[in-house]
Amino acid sequence: MSLKPTYILAIESSCDDTSAAIMADNKVLSNIVARQEIHEEYGGVVPELASRAHQQNIVPVVDIALKKAGITKDDLDGIAFTQGPGLMGSLLVGGSFAKSLSLALDIPLVAVNHMHAHILCHFIDEEGYDKPEFPFLAMTISGGHTQIVKVNSFFDLEILGETTDDAVGEAFDKSAKVLGFPYPGGPLIDKYAKEGNPKAFAFTKPKVDGLNFSFSGLKTQFLYFIQKNVATNPNFIEENKADICASIQYTIIQILLDKLKLAVKETGIKQIVIGGGVSANSGIRQALKEGEKKYKWKAFIPKFEYTTDNAAMIGIVGYYKYKESIFADSSVVSKARIEF
Ligand code: KG4
Ligand code: ZN
Repeated sequence: MSLKPTYILAIESSCDDTSAAIMADNKVLSNIVARQEIHEEYGGVVPELASRAHQQNIVPVVDIALKKAGITKDDLDGIAFTQGPGLMGSLLVGGSFAKSLSLALDIPLVAVNHMHAHILCHFIDEEGYDKPEFPFLAMTISGGHTQIVKVNSFFDLEILGETTDDAVGEAFDKSAKVLGFPYPGGPLIDKYAKEGNPKAFAFTKPKVDGLNFSFSGLKTQFLYFIQKNVATNPNFIEENKADICASIQYTIIQILLDKLKLAVKETGIKQIVIGGGVSANSGIRQALKEGEKKYKWKAFIPKFEYTTDNAAMIGIVGYYKYKESIFADSSVVSKARIEF
C-alpha cells in the first residue's frame, strides 16, 4: 500500500480574494490568500477590478502555496477549483487556470461549489477541532448568502431556508457604510461592538415565515435611524459608535438565532455548523457556544482562516470528490449561480 497522500491544489477566485491551497488528503499544507484592497475605496467589490487582480495574483499565489507546502506541481494528484457561485469574471480566471494546469499535468479536475465548501470546511483535519456527524444543520452566512442547510452526507445537502433579499454579510456591510466605515465593514462593526451596549438601541426584527430570512427592511430601518439622529446631533455616530455597532450586531444575531432555534425544533437535529465570512463574527461565535447550554445543541465553529473565502475549504471538498472520482472534464463551465 502506498503511503503517499493525495496532493490536491485548490483554487478559489469567486469574489475578491485570490487563494490557493495544497491539501495532503484532508490536511492543509498551505492556504495562501491574496486580499484585494483596491475595492476599499469604492465601498464594494468592483467586478472588473476583481477579475484583473485575480489575473495578476493567481500565478504567484499558486507558486507560494506549492513552495510553502514543500512540493512541486509534478507531485500533484488533482486540481480543485471554485465553479460557482460568484462573480463571472472572477470565477473564469480561477477556472481557466485550473483547467489548463490539469490538462498540462494530465491530472483530474474537480469542480467545487463555493457554498458546499463553506460547509465542509469543518472536515479539514485540524488538531483540537471535532468534526460534525451526519445529519447536521449548517448555517451559511456570507456576503452573498444566508442559508440553513440540512447536510445528510458529503454530497446530499438540502436547503431548508434562505434569504429572500439581502445576505447577512450585506446587512453588516451596508450598515457599516451608513456609519462611514470602509468596505467590507462587517469586521469593523464586530470590533466596535465589543465595547458597546447591545441593548442601547432597539431595532425591529423582520417577520418572515418558516426558515427564510430577510435583511433589507433592517437596512432601511438602520439608515433612517442614523439619518434622524445625525439631523439633531451631527456627532451622533462618533459619540455612540460602540453602542450603535453593538445594537445592530445584536439584532442581526438574534435574527439568525431565531431561525436556527426553529430549524433545530423542526428537524430534531442538534448539531450545528456555521460557515462563510460572517462566521468570523465574535458575537455569533459566542452566541452559538452559549446555545450549547441554553438550547442543548452542539456548535461547530470554524477556525478563523477557514471562515472568509479561502482555498483550503475548496480543497477539502476537492479531496472528498476526488476519493469518489467525481471529476469534471474540460467542458466544465463556471457558473455565477449554482445549486448544490
Ligand atoms: O464568505 P466571504 O468571505 O465572501 C462571500 O462569499 O461573500 O464573506 C464576506 C462577508 C463580508 O460581508 C464581510 O463583511 C463579512 O463576511 N465578515 C464579517 C466579519 N468578517 C467578515 N461580518 C461580521 N463580523 C465579522 N467579524
Ligand atoms: Zn464565501
